[in-house]
Amino acid sequence: MENKHHRSKYSTQVNNRDTFMFFAPGRINLMGEYTDYTGGKVLPATIQHGIWLFIRLIKENEIRLKSEILNISRVVNAENLGQTTRTWTDYPLGIMNKLLSLGMRFTGMELVFFGNLPIGAGMGNSAALGMVTAFALNRIFDLKLGKLQISKLVKETENKFASVQSGMMDHYAVAYGASGKALFVDCNESTHKYVPLNVEEYSFVIVQSNVKHKHRETTYNKRVQELGQVHQIINQYFEITNLGTLQGADYDWLDKMIEDDVLKRRLRHIVNENTRVELAVEHLGANKYSEFGQLMYDSHSSLVYDFEVSCKELDVLVNLAQTINGVLGARMLGSGFDSSTINLVKKGMEENFINKILTGYSEQTGRQGEAFTVYPEGQLHQLTKKIS
Ligand code: GLA
Repeated sequence: MENKHHRSKYSTQVNNRDTFMFFAPGRINLMGEYTDYTGGKVLPATIQHGIWLFIRLIKENEIRLKSEILNISRVVNAENLGQTTRTWTDYPLGIMNKLLSLGMRFTGMELVFFGNLPIGAGMGNSAALGMVTAFALNRIFDLKLGKLQISKLVKETENKFASVQSGMMDHYAVAYGASGKALFVDCNESTHKYVPLNVEEYSFVIVQSNVKHKHRETTYNKRVQELGQVHQIINQYFEITNLGTLQGADYDWLDKMIEDDVLKRRLRHIVNENTRVELAVEHLGANKYSEFGQLMYDSHSSLVYDFEVSCKELDVLVNLAQTINGVLGARMLGSGFDSSTINLVKKGMEENFINKILTGYSEQTGRQGEAFTVYPEGQLHQLTKKIS
């Protein structure tokens, strides 16, 4: 039976050569790890690597999904997106379902995803994938959703399908990231300011540990839960909407309220890390990159001892970085464990740094790492106009 509501208003007009191409960048995070879901501050920047989405409108009433990254494909009916299959396709189809509920009418189409973001390196892969999907469909079908609305919608969908209850940083960064700048985001208000980066003199280099730690996802969710506990304890005495709104000096008296040593350390990380984001913005604004680099080392220590989300390999990488000429700072990136490190290196010293750190890493761990320089220049956009 024909369902008029779901019937595409485009189906009669589709030229099967209507094609589109979109790009969503990955991100690095300069400061503010695990602060996003406490309504705190973060300082990400989008990069040149990311995910491309090619879309072709077709006459058949089908949605054909293909990931060149994962080598997975699936075809569903455009009027009935089908059941979840516990594969990658649930995520883009979940976004489509959400758009459908907001009034989008589907036409048949083919979606092919390509990418050059390393998987599992903590560089916002899944946010880029979700954002490129929602951004593209919003454009093609003229849904008129704003960037903030898109980033919230994608985050909610990802939380439903992914095992990690990630915060808002990655989706927000993809939405607003701009060339040559970091984004100083207030996750409580969902607002941001741009912080220009001195790309003439300094580079960011990513070093992948290439290890796998199975407990990353469960630990991420455990930290969310622990911070929820901390929030409850504090709320017995004071009403605060978000842990992320606490300032550095607040920790001293909060410390007395929380008896459990583990919870104390979790809170200390959040309060100090938020303060570090504010300081980082000041230092970057004043071109004080050495001071900013020191904050990166401090952030890493906090993630090791107070938040306990690092691992031996990432610690080896950060320790090694400190011994190499031209390095001003280093720390683990994203949710940690098996991800990567981000290193602040003087321009022109990147190659020497990469050679030294990969050699040292393999000597100390017997593992082969990978390293590359990232440029803060990615932006969510449409590459081509319709070519029909
Ligand atoms: C992951 C999540 C983000 C953020 C970081 C840790 O990348 O997707 O929302 O919580 O971990 O800062």
